[in-house]
Amino acid sequence: MSPCSRGGAGYDPAVSADGGPATDVLGPVEIRGEGLGKAFDGHVVLRRVSLEVRRGEIVALVGASGSGKTVLLHLLTGLHPPTEGRVLVAHHGRRGAPLVDLETLDEEERDAVRLSWAVVFQKNALFSATVYENCALWLREHTQLPARAIRERVCESLQAVSLDVDTVIGKDRDELSGGMAKRVAVARAIAQDPLLVFYDEPTTGLDPVTSAHLHELIWNTHFRPRRDGVRRTTVLVTHDKDLLRRLHPRVVMLHGGGVCFDGTYAEFTASTLGPAREYLLAMPVLHAGPSRDAEGTP
Ligand SMILES: Nc1ncnc2c1ncn2[C@@H]1O[C@H](COP(=O)(O)OP(=O)(O)OP(=O)(O)O)[C@@H](O)[C@H]1O
Ligand SMILES: [Mg+2]
Repeated sequence: MSPCSRGGAGYDPAVSADGGPATDVLGPVEIRGEGLGKAFDGHVVLRRVSLEVRRGEIVALVGASGSGKTVLLHLLTGLHPPTEGRVLVAHHGRRGAPLVDLETLDEEERDAVRLSWAVVFQKNALFSATVYENCALWLREHTQLPARAIRERVCESLQAVSLDVDTVIGKDRDELSGGMAKRVAVARAIAQDPLLVFYDEPTTGLDPVTSAHLHELIWNTHFRPRRDGVRRTTVLVTHDKDLLRRLHPRVVMLHGGGVCFDGTYAEFTASTLGPAREYLLAMPVLHAGPSRDAEGTP
């Protein structure tokens, strides 16, 4: 067992940060990785990683550069097949949203599962076209919205990420600065009104004011009620201490190819052992003990 682990049993999402039951706020399993391993040409990046995310949770994956956060996100979203283990996901296209094994689905079924997801990639993954096209394409292909409603949704999403709509909407991907491209990637994701959102470093490279707007947006997107009443789930990779402090997520830390910490934000910031402690010392604002922690409560 790793020295910074909370124990072999790992995090129990049915217990809140206060130690009390949280079953009233968390739903069934939304996504579950079982014994996930990934190697590239014999180079092992992840081994036996198990992780369960319940509906309604905000889960932050943290860890040093190269620890495998993006790879894990790619396994969970089915972009890469795991070398070992499997990923089960809730299929919201089926009655009762049963868990299905991503590997066993054909391409059409996988696409159906992914309809309720949105992914903000670390490198944005905008395609070579205008900002409008990047944000509107999914809505055109997967919703019944009329053209005017799509335009409104795109404009609202661009405004929500603090972009000047008139200036950017017709710009080509290659005309965007790094920070603008990042914001377009976030706008594209929220325009889809997803049930499950994956963000890979959504605030990296942004100025502090824009970052603060995005912190609010990620929070609001998570908690904004949906028409069907289903709670949203958020999984994000971040090194942004202010974002962690804003969201108070469950924190999962990767180290040495595995999960070395899985617990509440309060437990993470109070962590005194191993890699979690080292990581926190490099993030002094988070490592502030219970009194400062209370100060940062959203
Ligand atoms: N497609 C790939 N082919 C070969 N190796 C890869 C590939 N993708 C990732 N890796 C390797 O896997 C390891 C983990 O990479 P990953 O991108 O997941 O790190 P990370 O934790 O997201 O880091 P960062 O914080 O810098 O984004 C690295 O050693 C990387 O070189
Ligand atoms: Mg990464």
